[in-house]
Amino acid sequence: MNSSYFNTAAGAFLGVLFVLMTLSIVSDGIFDTHEPETEGFAIEVAEGGGADSAPAEEAAPEEIAPLLASADPDKGANVFKKCAACHTVDPSGANKVGPGLWDIVNRPMATHEGFKYSSAMTEFSEGGTVNWDYDHLSHFLASPKKYISGTAMGFAGLKKIEDRADLLAYLRTLADTPAPLPTEDAAPTEAAEESTAPAEAVEESAAPEEPAEESAAPAEADAETAEPAN
Ligand code: HEC
Repeated sequence: MNSSYFNTAAGAFLGVLFVLMTLSIVSDGIFDTHEPETEGFAIEVAEGGGADSAPAEEAAPEEIAPLLASADPDKGANVFKKCAACHTVDPSGANKVGPGLWDIVNRPMATHEGFKYSSAMTEFSEGGTVNWDYDHLSHFLASPKKYISGTAMGFAGLKKIEDRADLLAYLRTLADTPAPLPTEDAAPTEAAEESTAPAEAVEESAAPEEPAEESAAPAEADAETAEPAN
């Protein structure tokens, strides 16, 4: 092997090395290669999988309102048996472990007389300015501790929205004036228009009193008293 051959080979080798190093440096700049935080490939599977799969259950917001119109108060009375250990629903409003629930729909939260509420529920009520409307009741009863964390109500929750709808349909009847169903609520009120009706008939009443004409003019006595003819 003569030296010129060696030199050529070494030069070629260094040349290749130089090119490789240059490529490496340049590509590092282009492709930002940083250490992955976790080993291996992250395989991301879109939730719900294939295109034909149903949307995830949680995606659908739980709306109680559409169910209320067809909910069954009788079934609701049955569901209420789960609550009866701790709550009364009669007009006395008596408290047990929990506050009396007479007239609960749309009642301001945490305001029932004589009941000592947890601070969690008092705070949630924002000083009693939040009302127990259908939505609040539905969410609370689905999972009391999740909705108002720290509540003293020791009840796991009614998972089935149908049960909650039936129960609320029952609870709304337990009031002097049952709270309107959400659909009725949305109906425009026409009563306001009526008030603009003109107040009529007022002027007529002040009919001028006709001064009675002196119809009874004194009949002029025939002055010509017949003189006695002589
Ligand atoms: C183990 C007893 C217990 C059971 C069972 C129970 N509750 Fe309660 N409930 C309570 C207590 C205690 C509170 C007061 C919670 C607080 O202060 O945090 C309460 C509060 C409430 C409130 C709020 C009342 C207000 O005045 O603001 C409603 C509404 C309610 N419960 C409905 C129900 C319904 C409907 C059921 C049945 C599905 C039920 N509860 C089951 C104990 C119970």
